[in-house]
Amino acid sequence: MPLPASSASRPPNEYDQFADIYAVWTDTAASARANLAFYLDAYAAAEGPVVELGVGDGRVAVPAAASGQHITGVDLSMAMLERCRRRAAEAGVLDRLTLLHADFRQFQLDTPAALIALPYHSLGHVTAIEDKRAVLTHAFSQLRPGGRFVFDDFLMRPALVTHMRGVQRRAQYQTTAGTDVRLWVTSIVDEAEQSIRVVTWEEERLGADWSTGRHYRYLTLSWLTPSQARGLLTDAGFLVDACYGDFAGTPFAESTAHEQVWVARRPA
Ligand SMILES: C[S@@+](CC[C@H](N)C(=O)[O-])C[C@H]1O[C@@H](n2cnc3c(N)ncnc32)[C@H](O)[C@@H]1O
Repeated sequence: MPLPASSASRPPNEYDQFADIYAVWTDTAASARANLAFYLDAYAAAEGPVVELGVGDGRVAVPAAASGQHITGVDLSMAMLERCRRRAAEAGVLDRLTLLHADFRQFQLDTPAALIALPYHSLGHVTAIEDKRAVLTHAFSQLRPGGRFVFDDFLMRPALVTHMRGVQRRAQYQTTAGTDVRLWVTSIVDEAEQSIRVVTWEEERLGADWSTGRHYRYLTLSWLTPSQARGLLTDAGFLVDACYGDFAGTPFAESTAHEQVWVARRPA
């Protein structure tokens, strides 16, 4: 497989530097809007404890908690966990969230989960194939028999690669201090390595001009091909219940799919 076997060079906690623009990032992403309803429905359908790996700022977990569910959120970034905690407090649902500061491969649950979800391409932050395998194997170990594991990954097609390599003005917004900001993004995509280095920067309006001083932020991502994803799931012991090509539940077909959305189950 082209993905590297080890992830020793992965920079730690990139999200600690990304947390303050994460809400702008997701608010301006069609894929984030599309996946929200899908995951909320999956959480609501679970009959037992729900765990979100990479809970981030609680974009999914807090509305789920607001609808009455108890969610355990796992994340490696303290800055993201703090945003999640604040969001839950503002929504009055802090008592329905358990937040664990842990890696996807190391969290420990008191009670085996009915559902473990890994939304929004987040498995891609674990770049090495053997580390991805460890995430799936560990999730399997933390599920109760019959419990489900749901995740999505990029479906990397040439058009998406070209789009990502372009420079895009992702958002224009005003900070709470009243400063106008433009958020720009581009990505360095290595198709052979199946890796993506997302680079963002902001410009601030200074009078009639936009500042040229740039503050760069980075996210390291990667992707699996659908056959790699299926192989890792079955190697870990999962049964694959479904693979969708979008968040509306359209069965996956390579020629028409936009995403790969996997629903797997630990055998009962
Ligand atoms: C794309 S965000 C997803 C946040 C949220 N689930 C959502 O859908 O908006 C990915 C999150 O995964 C976390 N993360 C990345 N690698 C991780 C790892 N190895 N273990 C735990 N959390 C990790 C990041 O800190 C970040 O909060």
